[in-house]
Amino acid sequence: VPGPDLRHVVALKRDGHTLHEDEIRSLVLGYARGEVGTELAAAFLMAAYIRGLDPAETRALTDAMVRSGRTLSLEGISRPTVDKHSTGGVADGVTLVFAPVAASMGVGVAKLSGRGLGHTGGTLDKLESIPGLRTDLSPEEFERQVDRVGCAVAAQTADLVPADGALYALRDATATVPSVPLIAASVMSKKLAVETDLILLDVKVGSGAFMKTVEAAEELAGTCMELAKAWGRAAYAAVTDMSQPLGTAIGNALDIAETVAILRGEERGRVAELALTFAGEGLPGQSWPDDQTARSKAEHVLASGEALETFRRMVEAQGGDPRVVDDPQNVLPRAPVVEPVFARRSGTLVAVDAEAVGRASGALGAGRTTKEEAIDPAVGIVLRAKVGDRLDTGEPIGEVHARDDSAARAAADAVNAALAVRDDGVEPPPLVYGWRRA
Ligand code: URA
Repeated sequence: VPGPDLRHVVALKRDGHTLHEDEIRSLVLGYARGEVGTELAAAFLMAAYIRGLDPAETRALTDAMVRSGRTLSLEGISRPTVDKHSTGGVADGVTLVFAPVAASMGVGVAKLSGRGLGHTGGTLDKLESIPGLRTDLSPEEFERQVDRVGCAVAAQTADLVPADGALYALRDATATVPSVPLIAASVMSKKLAVETDLILLDVKVGSGAFMKTVEAAEELAGTCMELAKAWGRAAYAAVTDMSQPLGTAIGNALDIAETVAILRGEERGRVAELALTFAGEGLPGQSWPDDQTARSKAEHVLASGEALETFRRMVEAQGGDPRVVDDPQNVLPRAPVVEPVFARRSGTLVAVDAEAVGRASGALGAGRTTKEEAIDPAVGIVLRAKVGDRLDTGEPIGEVHARDDSAARAAADAVNAALAVRDDGVEPPPLVYGWRRA
């Protein structure tokens, strides 16, 4: 059956007019149902990208996306519930640490995640590198798991926010990702469809984020908080640094290995720090009298191994091999070629083009260039050097995990080209720029 002809709606946006709520709803729901063609949906995204969407249009887009599927009231869960989302970064495994930490503190983490987008990694892709692990949980499975295990990380499905699933992939394929209203509607539709007691947002800023300036990131945080307020939801957003890869692993299985090392207490860096910051400063008001108490509880469940055990139970509940927490090297897929990356000049590392490092990892196969493409879970980059570190020529600063030698060489070159090394020093960037409440 031919669907509605909504070219006039796209033409209105193309010409800079404001769309009515019903027009946006017809387009979005039509596309989600397969009645509006990909060409028209792509043209709409580009028009919205260039012309922008005002607050009412952004609310209408978000509302249409939420209405494209079911919503989950989470009434069967006895714990206070929280959802956490990042606007996208490089080596951003915070959710994978935060979820088991918060769950071990007694909170229920009910998280709908995305896949890799552009140069950024996706939590779902990372988790699916664990053999057997499924993220296509039914709403019932999702809710039951949050109640029983304390955390679940699932994909938006045909049931939950299907319009975001469709539009997210189309934005990736049409260069329409870094737009404040499109990101805000995408992120918040997934958060509004799952009725947690609290929404935590990690709004990234810097070379590896979609928002390259603190002002743009603050605008995105503000738009997301406005949406939370319009839906009457408690929400808290932090603008955090993405001026370099956050952790050391930029890939999928490599990120899981890093997560396990953090949960096992073998590694402690900016990923662990930010996960503990969200648990410490984001959760109070929920169940703790102040952030000091929450922070020390978060530190305790990480140090005691409780968070590691919760991660094991989450992996197992989603069908994954739970031995990944004991022996990640042998459970996770491994790339055939592992080449060290050496510093090519001496000096202080003053900046990293994190987007370029993300793209280099994508070129190895860790990301997609079309929405149908499968990713290679084993490949990626490990970069241990951080801004402010002193490097010496020839010093090993990481590794490339690749399918073959020529791919490994190209990635090692790309990593070095992404590093700015100078003789003078530099202050490491802050981890958090600031917080905003709905
Ligand atoms: N994360 C999302 O869920 N959507 C975006 O558009 C960007 C990051």
